[in-house]
Amino acid sequence: ESIEKGGYEHFMLKEIFEQPRSILDSMRGRMIAENNHLMMGGIREYENKFANAQRILIVACGTSWHAGLVAEYLIEDLARIPVEVEYASEFRYRNPIVNENDIVIAISQSGETADTLAAIELAKSKGATIFGICNVVGSSIARATDAGAYTHAGPEIGVASTKAFTAQVTVLTLIAMMIGSKRGTIETTKLHELIAELEQIPAKVEQTLKLDKQIEEIAAIYKDATNFLYLGRGYNFPVALEGALKLKEISYIHAEGYPAAEMKHGPIALIDEQMPVVVIATKDSSYEKIVSNVQEVKARKGKVIAIVTEGDTTIPSMADHVIEIPETSEHLMPLLSVVPLQLLSYHIAVMRGCNVDQPRNLAKSVTVE
Ligand code: AGP
Repeated sequence: ESIEKGGYEHFMLKEIFEQPRSILDSMRGRMIAENNHLMMGGIREYENKFANAQRILIVACGTSWHAGLVAEYLIEDLARIPVEVEYASEFRYRNPIVNENDIVIAISQSGETADTLAAIELAKSKGATIFGICNVVGSSIARATDAGAYTHAGPEIGVASTKAFTAQVTVLTLIAMMIGSKRGTIETTKLHELIAELEQIPAKVEQTLKLDKQIEEIAAIYKDATNFLYLGRGYNFPVALEGALKLKEISYIHAEGYPAAEMKHGPIALIDEQMPVVVIATKDSSYEKIVSNVQEVKARKGKVIAIVTEGDTTIPSMADHVIEIPETSEHLMPLLSVVPLQLLSYHIAVMRGCNVDQPRNLAKSVTVE
């Protein structure tokens, strides 16, 4: 087992550090730019189907559901097709409206999640086209779908999903760009910018991983906290949910992720000097808004751990701790901003003596409903 861990103390840490490679593997050979269009290698016969879809439904659970939420922002913004993201367990039991012109994207690392599989069968029975995004080749979900694209993250052993999430987001980003390109809803210059930025993501993740020591020091300060709040807006909102889930499942600290603006509708009551608040506050279209959210937390003496874009000076002047990550397009930011949150939860869990790779009560794939 120590050989399989490649010198890392835990599979989870190894998998976090594998992300530059797994993201690259998940995009390699798939971005085919021709005549100012982006084609997606492997699924070219599905391009028209996606482009003509009236609606895209996404079904998944847990971390894969968070990747689906990132895809909602991407597809609606870049391809202008309405997207609904559903918990597979709710979708399957609520008599959902599904039409023949809908495409259902099922996302699953293991490809064995019982609720996601049942949601696929239901959507199929209503005539929708099912597209799978799985990591495990030949898995039940991969076999149950009409078509799909594998994530090439390699085996993920740690129960807490890390590299599978970023691989899913990579593939979903390519799909959103491909549909937008086909439908003409992305300007050519924007498309080229995104392609160039996406190509740089593996190197930027590598750079982000260099923050490991700094994040470990922050973890040491907050390892005994009993609650955490994670806030983000726009593309960073699903990342806030994912950061909170990572912390809960491996460190057993209660954590909640929220869209930052929702804080004032309830969670703000929780904030006092004991409450660590992780704010994902990178430079994007909602930056000014999130600055005010940080002020609201500081006014109530909450401890702010801010994830910011390199070179930012406004948020660092207010936050208690600052983690600077490289700049990128807001569409791609989840691929970078999730990394410090994975490391933070990992170090906190290790310091609390938790079984990081096999947390209590959890299994790698949930094959029962
Ligand atoms: C992630 O860290 C969790 N362990 C869990 O939420 C997981 O993402 C969920 O069970 C879905 O699994 P799947 O991607 O294999 O379908």
